[in-house]
Amino acid sequence: MKKIGLGKEFLVAFLWRKIMSVGNDKIDQGHRHLICYINTIELVLQNPKEKDLIIEALEQLQTTTVKNFRAEEAIQRKIGYPHTLHHRREHEKLLRQLNDVIKKIDYCRNPDEITNCAPDLVIFLRNWIVDHVLHEDMLVRPFLARYPKAYS
Ligand SMILES: [Fe+2]
Repeated sequence: MKKIGLGKEFLVAFLWRKIMSVGNDKIDQGHRHLICYINTIELVLQNPKEKDLIIEALEQLQTTTVKNFRAEEAIQRKIGYPHTLHHRREHEKLLRQLNDVIKKIDYCRNPDEITNCAPDLVIFLRNWIVDHVLHEDMLVRPFLARYPKAYS
């Protein structure tokens, strides 16, 4: 993957695509939102002097992620997905990782430190959500296929 260099080089636009669909409108919509928040974080990271904005954007991603994960877990329970507990543990692991990232940025004392860790942060966030959606969430797809897409 091409390395991002704050204002110099850019990764390919990060967009939700049909291949990422798990076959449920509510969950897919939640994933679109997470990607939008990650894109916002990439934008605010362009100005590493605005640490408060970066933290705010990360916390908004955190809030939305918690909401989406809980909604996803509720649907899994309703449809009788047999690996709900494992999936919930994966969600908790992701939330801990996100929390660690927020702390890491919060500890940065000057913009140069943020500039240095920004590329890794962007790649981490993209992989963080894409890996989960394409691997763990996709395992639920065959179970969701028995219900209408609008099921919630
Ligand atoms: Fe999930």
